[in-house]
Amino acid sequence: MPPMLRRLNHNMLALDGPDHGRLRTLVHKAFTPSMIERMRDQVQLLTNELLDKVEPHASMDLIADFALPLPLTMIIRILGIPAQDAPMFRRWARRFLAGGASIDRILLIPTMLSFAGYLKKLIKTRLARPGDDLITALAQAREDRDQLSEDEILAMILLLLIAGHETTVNLIGSGILALLEHPDQLARLRSEPELIKPAIEELLRFVCPLVMATERYAREDITLEGVTIPRGELVVAVIGSANRDPRYFEEPDMLDITREKNKHLAFGQGVHYCLGAPLSRMEGQIAIKTLVQRMPDLRLAIPAQQLHWRGNLVMRGLEALPVLF
Ligand code: HEM
Repeated sequence: MPPMLRRLNHNMLALDGPDHGRLRTLVHKAFTPSMIERMRDQVQLLTNELLDKVEPHASMDLIADFALPLPLTMIIRILGIPAQDAPMFRRWARRFLAGGASIDRILLIPTMLSFAGYLKKLIKTRLARPGDDLITALAQAREDRDQLSEDEILAMILLLLIAGHETTVNLIGSGILALLEHPDQLARLRSEPELIKPAIEELLRFVCPLVMATERYAREDITLEGVTIPRGELVVAVIGSANRDPRYFEEPDMLDITREKNKHLAFGQGVHYCLGAPLSRMEGQIAIKTLVQRMPDLRLAIPAQQLHWRGNLVMRGLEALPVLF
């Protein structure tokens, strides 16, 4: 990987111990359940506005028109990026996520440079004119206490930008598809909207927006379930598989929005447990509950077999989800 990209990938997910703690502490205050609760009205308002906009057309691409703009707008607001730059940010995020082979990564360099240049300018602006946002807080932490480097700020923003919307898009998009494919569960949620909390947990388990955890390397020889992983070997935890483990989940391939024993791993586990879990849970609950209530005739516009999944090994999500209502 070119050094420039390596630096931007050097985020809290890739660090252990005190370095991980230092970075996580700097941002965790913005994502605590009580901070997120304060955004509930904003999320509801945005959800209503997005649905108001599509309502007269009686059809939409649920990904582009609803599932994507909701979390993207929220993370952009939390970071403090001017609203008019949102489309540019979305394009960047898409490019970063698409890169797989080395050649793709090299082709990413110009995008990375624009991204870094834009953010460096924004950080300067926020230092001169502070706002009530995360970029201001990070920029001030760098200035006042020299707590993080400029590269670390950029890597942090990139991580939050990508982690902060792409996954929640998949929760809402694939979650709605799963409900449309299980009409009994959809009908139950419609008649008992108070089931939204367990329903979102079940959708997180069932559709699993982030299928594979970050790659890890064994620090010492370790034996798990009779398999020895030698020191230095790559380990990839496939969350999507764990979430369907028949040794823990009863009828794992069944969608049951009332499932009680549901300790899924969709947000990971341990010190790297998802920082954004309260935010995406809240966004998912409001988005899906409101959509189901407001659109009683919601249905697929094309046969499910014609839907395309994006070619990404880590995040599983639909390219588009055309629906009628
Ligand atoms: C449905 C939505 C989401 C899912 C399924 C999800 C899933 C995950 C998972 C599985 C991990 C752990 C990865 C690992 O250990 O390798 C993780 C970490 C993380 N997530 Fe999320 N995430 C979601 C939404 C969000 C949002 C909305 C944000 C931020 C606004 C966010 C920010 C992060 C960050 C910063 C980490 C790294 C934490 C650390 O290393 O300490 N995520 N996420």
